[in-house]
Amino acid sequence: MTRIGIIGGGNIGEALLSGILGDGADPKSIIVADPTTERLEQLKDQYGVVTTEDSAEAADGSDFVFIAVKPDIVPIALQDITDTVDLNGDETVVVSLAAGVTNKAMESVLPAGTPVVRVMPNTPMLVGKGASALAGGRFAEKNHVEAVQDLMSATGTVVIVKEKDIDAVTAISGSGPAYYFMVTEAMIDAGVNLGLPRVLAEQLAVATAEGAATMMAKGQSEDGGDDPVTLRTKVSSPGGTTSAATRTLDEEGLRTAFYRAMQACKDRSIELGKSD
Ligand SMILES: NC(=O)c1ccc[n+]([C@@H]2O[C@H](COP(=O)([O-])OP(=O)(O)OC[C@H]3O[C@@H](n4cnc5c(N)ncnc54)[C@H](OP(=O)(O)O)[C@@H]3O)[C@@H](O)[C@H]2O)c1
Repeated sequence: MTRIGIIGGGNIGEALLSGILGDGADPKSIIVADPTTERLEQLKDQYGVVTTEDSAEAADGSDFVFIAVKPDIVPIALQDITDTVDLNGDETVVVSLAAGVTNKAMESVLPAGTPVVRVMPNTPMLVGKGASALAGGRFAEKNHVEAVQDLMSATGTVVIVKEKDIDAVTAISGSGPAYYFMVTEAMIDAGVNLGLPRVLAEQLAVATAEGAATMMAKGQSEDGGDDPVTLRTKVSSPGGTTSAATRTLDEEGLRTAFYRAMQACKDRSIELGKSD
């Protein structure tokens, strides 16, 4: 039985454990460490997982230890488990879900030779629709990285990338949900400006986002469907209403705004990574 330790029982720790359990894992194979007793009680009651206030206990004998604490707490959390990981031998894969913490930074705290994997998740993971990218460290073998991919696939789409691409990944999927929220917010405001009540504008804009996302996701599925470009051209009849709108978006620089915004995001991600 694969034993999993989760350090940090907050939003992401819970999203992870709920995904893994939803995939059929035994709750008794998951042990969560968090400093807050009430939080641990809540996770134990709701999911039946084992809980502890001692991170070393969560790492003891675990095949995978997921670090799901805030980025500035990661070095402390790693320090708490390092002796135990050493005693486990090279059997434990340490996986960080914290934004901006590099594999090199993790390797510098953990015992020499520890396989580490860095994950760039995104917030839709909280509803099982995440888009995560994984990159293995120096000592992570292909089978380690694939095993993490397999475990995390219960939380949504999971791809394996080179660590050098993580900053670009941050710009597309890590920060991406915020772009969609902002576009939806702009559509709601524009709908209100056109005379619709806000509640109605919100209902229609959100349902449209969900419908469009579902159609695009179908294009990625094994069943097949259209890619985003085809989907857009299919709803743009010659000289029609949609074409009038998309032409205006192009004239107003929508694409340029995305090129520039995502470059700014990547640049910021590189800058934050340098503070390791
Ligand atoms: N939230 C997101 O949507 C999202 C998306 C992508 C990536 N991430 C990454 O995921 C990580 C976790 O984010 P989150 O939103 O889940 O944060 P969170 O809700 O604050 O959860 C962190 C948990 O870790 C606990 N903790 C603090 N110090 C600890 C320690 N030394 N040992 C064990 N547990 C400790 C915290 O307890 P206390 O509250 O009592 O301090 C809290 O319960 C972050 O690094 C973030 O970059 C989050």
